[in-house]
Amino acid sequence: MSAATRRRPLWLLLLPAFVPVVVLVLCVGLFLFFRQGGLEPLRVPTGTGTPAPTDAASIERGRYLARVGNCDTCHTPRGGAPYTGGRAFPTDWGTVFSTNLTPDPDTGLGDWSLEEFRHAMRHGVSRTGMLYPVFPYANFALLEDADLDALFAYLHSLEPVRAEAPANRLDWPASWRPVLLGWRMLYHRPRTPGEVPDRSESWNRGRYLVDGLAHCDMCHSERGRFASLPGERYLAGGIIPGQGWYAPPLTRSTLERFPVDDLAHYLRSGVSLQAAASGPMAEVIFTSLQHLDAADAEAIATYIKDVPDRARPGSRDLVSERSTTAMAGNGRTLYEDHCAQCHGSDGRGRGMDYPALAGNPALTVNDPVNAVRLVLYGGVPPTTALNPRPHSMPPFAHTLSDADVAAVVTYVRGAWGNRGTAVSADQVQRMRGMRID
Ligand code: HEC
Ligand code: HEC
Ligand code: HEC
Repeated sequence: MSAATRRRPLWLLLLPAFVPVVVLVLCVGLFLFFRQGGLEPLRVPTGTGTPAPTDAASIERGRYLARVGNCDTCHTPRGGAPYTGGRAFPTDWGTVFSTNLTPDPDTGLGDWSLEEFRHAMRHGVSRTGMLYPVFPYANFALLEDADLDALFAYLHSLEPVRAEAPANRLDWPASWRPVLLGWRMLYHRPRTPGEVPDRSESWNRGRYLVDGLAHCDMCHSERGRFASLPGERYLAGGIIPGQGWYAPPLTRSTLERFPVDDLAHYLRSGVSLQAAASGPMAEVIFTSLQHLDAADAEAIATYIKDVPDRARPGSRDLVSERSTTAMAGNGRTLYEDHCAQCHGSDGRGRGMDYPALAGNPALTVNDPVNAVRLVLYGGVPPTTALNPRPHSMPPFAHTLSDADVAAVVTYVRGAWGNRGTAVSADQVQRMRGMRID
């Protein structure tokens, strides 16, 4: 061996081993890059392009769709002018602010072309760059051109208002938009619209609305780490981050108790013989779903009643009725004293005024937060055209101790054939500390 070979640096000798590693990393990177849609989504159409349609029918259609998509709730600051943006969305990495959707040319969509709008709605990329997934573009990707064009027509018919959205307050690296390419490569799977051929027209319409414009999975599915999209946990229920509300599964077994008509009525009115809406669901019904036309409400009900159940391994920890009732201690007495006048000694409630607690799976799901919250802070279903004067439930935070609340909630979760687990005074105490929305 010559002296020259012996003096070769170590890294040069190891180079052949690195080459396959580098090639592998590049291949995986390219694969993920193409899986998120390749280069196309990242190229924002520029220029003036097609202007928005201006006919009255498109604008009216757009107004309806904007309500179903709840654009104004997310794009209106609390107490501010509609669609001017600036509503804050807290995330694990800081705060994202929504943008101005009025046709102001400097701060809104005034000089956007229809192509740019369609592109932002489908791919979550605009002249600003890649958009944060708080904006439900993965859902909006399913929208047909005609619906997107109507939405754009409606937004362009609004009064232009100059309103600069506040700069996002995010930690590094989330604050640097290009990092979203990594997120997209890991989690974004462009969805393609399309009908399931062997299902009814109403079922397909329901799926189009639930998965697309109405983005029900934003609350009713739990996201994984780094706000990944639900996938396996599709409509299987989940805790809404930062709010302490549990959105129950929208699947066959939980919704079995609702005939289609009753479920459609619940979506438009906020009440039914089977359940009453509270918290974030009451808000969604108030701002959005009460405006659904009867056919669309029925379509949504038809579809969600047919979503297969997803087993959550290890999370089903049911106890027998007798043992829960025994654990409830003085729960039964408390129930008779404070609750029975509305919900009935038999737990059947009273028509649409007071919801039934017997056989109500939303009440017996593993996570008791909703029931505990309602007993502590009370609640009222939304005021809607179909139910203009809702009855309310009084708060018990000042009348009942943590142990009493735990006992009475444990009682209702276990009585009349209900099969939910017991609730502890500690769980109630933690809920007392939660922010109330
Ligand atoms: C859950 C809340 C939410 C809903 C619902 C929502 N948006 Fe947004 N939207 C946002 C947020 C937050 C942003 C800003 C994202 C960012 O800065 O990365 C945004 C951004 C946008 C953008 C990009 C603006 C720009 O300047 O790049 C458009 C266009 C848009 N939304 C239109 C709509 C329309 C139309 C609807 C109703 C069909 C809608 N949004 C519903 C939260 C929402
Ligand atoms: C902002 C979050 C949020 C969104 C968006 C949302 N929901 Fe809900 N939903 C909830 C919460 C929380 C509950 C539980 C509280 C209650 O029962 O009122 C709930 C309850 C329900 C129930 C009652 C379930 C039962 O078994 O009693 C139905 C049905 C329902 N939602 C359907 C929908 C549909 C359909 C959509 C989309 C069009 C939707 N939700 C969108 C948060 C949400
Ligand atoms: C004055 C009548 C009234 C009394 C008393 C009352 N409730 Fe209610 N309860 C209601 C109404 C109305 C609703 C619907 C609230 C809503 O939609 O926000 C409700 C909702 C509920 C729900 C949620 C049901 C669902 O479908 O999501 C639970 C659980 C509940 N009550 C338990 C209790 C318990 C336990 C007590 C006693 C500590 C009690 N209630 C006392 C009227 C009452």
